[in-house]
Amino acid sequence: MDRVALVTGGTRGLGAAIAVALRDAGYRVATVHRSNVDAAQAFREKTSIPVFCWDVADFSACREGIRQVESEIGPVDILVNNAGITRDAVLHRMTPEQWSAVILTNLGSVFNMSRNAIEGMRERGFGRIVNISSVNGERGQIGQANYAAAKAGILGFTKSLALESARKNITVNAIAPGYCDTDMVAAVPKEVLDKIVAGIPVGRLGNGGDIARLVLFLADDAASFITGATFDANGGQFMA
Ligand code: CAA
Repeated sequence: MDRVALVTGGTRGLGAAIAVALRDAGYRVATVHRSNVDAAQAFREKTSIPVFCWDVADFSACREGIRQVESEIGPVDILVNNAGITRDAVLHRMTPEQWSAVILTNLGSVFNMSRNAIEGMRERGFGRIVNISSVNGERGQIGQANYAAAKAGILGFTKSLALESARKNITVNAIAPGYCDTDMVAAVPKEVLDKIVAGIPVGRLGNGGDIARLVLFLADDAASFITGATFDANGGQFMA
């Protein structure tokens, strides 16, 4: 297959699982990471998937990075905006830095990457953008006013860009994962996480494969009638 897929935050956690699933399905895949060089190197050695390094919170870096991916691998047909961080704190203790870091990385990046990929997609008359939101963007979470705001913002962005892009054979959808077995979730205090898992009807955390299967479904050329939608994969923890 000639389609090129670019996955942000693609060397660890859900992003890595998504990148590998796309590669296994025959896409030419590139990943972007920011700072964990050891993890990126291990991912590249294990998967042979190309890894690029830039900060998706930086608009110019995204413009230059996408240019580099396009010249080395090919035009980006499928963009998976997965990169995300947490800076959890209750609002009465949250610092402006914790707020801004999460908004810029989790929501700003979706603008930065999509804005720099969309013109090429429009010219070529094909695109698939999959934005990774979160169950906590749908239902809120104590300690995550920043994260929930960014992840909810992604849903509005997704619907608006879907409307703008519908006539160009570009679909834009969101996936809202629940709690998955990633480093991010492992950082939640154990006693808090135990209670959260006890409230997940299927009785377990999700995994990368649970989310990647939805990305594959949405990335497919045949998924052209599905746009502006949000897909929940949360083990029944929240039903919108
Ligand atoms: N209801 C109301 N208030 C509560 C509460 C509850 N259930 N639980 C805690 N609080 C309040 C406390 O009353 C306390 O307020 P005061 O200072 O006024 O007393 C405040 O929260 C802080 O409580 P603690 O001192 O006990 O806790 P903390 O400040 O050390 O940490 C926390 C609080 C950051 C929220 C911590 O509990 C935490 O990390 N929770 C997990 C948050 C979470 O689920 N993050 C998800 C990360 S994974 C992810 O994001 C992926 C994804 O998409 C799902």
